[in-house]
Amino acid sequence: MWSFHRWFEKHSLILLIGILVVVSIGGLVQITPLFFIESTIERVEGVRPYTPLELAGRQVYVREGCYTCHSQMIRPLRDEVERYGHYSLAAESMYDHPFQWGSKRTGPDLARVGGRYSDEWHRAHLTDPRSVVPESVMPPYAFLADADLDLRTMSDHLRANRLLRVPYTDEQIASAAADARAQATPFGEGAYEFEQRYGRVAQRDFDGDPARVTEMDALIAYLQMLGAGVDFSTYQADAPENER
Ligand code: HEC
Repeated sequence: MWSFHRWFEKHSLILLIGILVVVSIGGLVQITPLFFIESTIERVEGVRPYTPLELAGRQVYVREGCYTCHSQMIRPLRDEVERYGHYSLAAESMYDHPFQWGSKRTGPDLARVGGRYSDEWHRAHLTDPRSVVPESVMPPYAFLADADLDLRTMSDHLRANRLLRVPYTDEQIASAAADARAQATPFGEGAYEFEQRYGRVAQRDFDGDPARVTEMDALIAYLQMLGAGVDFSTYQADAPENER
């Protein structure tokens, strides 16, 4: 009955291919459902998709390679939780494409840096890190304050994220550029519409230059919301409202 097996045993390359086929069937059976089951990631109150400005800031973060020195995942270990705050939840990176967990920490983890410093501090730090942390080895990113944010591609960023199942509406996609400008220009044109579309999200002039919307605006808007969404004074890991 098993005589054909001899064939595998005598040809190592065929055996290797056979092994790969069998192992990948097992892998697919285990992994594929996770991409489709809604409950793979628990829903957590306070986690929301990025606004266009924050998404653009995230783009700057990835482009500048901030991830080569900073992770964005607090592990459930005592030293990390005491230093950075509550350990990261899966839901907190559910709208991250690609995720920024990382493991390289030349600088500190940034998963909960949102709200820890003022915009002014970030501005000074990104312009010249050693002006606020003398022993810092972080490179300066002063040019971000001179770089106008490219608003033309804003809708495309949102559209690409929607392909990856971030629930942006048609309206949010169509008005992405206006919304990015509105978030960095409080009380300006479109501020009310922005709030209608995104709720009570921080709207302010992040880079201290009210006349322009720069990459510095976008990056600081992004940093200031990192890990700040979930209210851990009321969050309970096993509470029924967090299921599904
Ligand atoms: C060469 C490594 C390196 C790169 C690249 C780098 N950083 Fe840093 N970063 C550090 C180090 C080291 C520190 C700690 C000293 C300090 O605060 O400057 C730090 C600190 C920070 C802090 C303060 C964190 C805290 O909790 O105190 C923020 C925010 C930050 N970096 C953001 C960024 C952003 C945004 C980028 C990309 C534009 C970036 N970093 C790129 C090394 C780096």
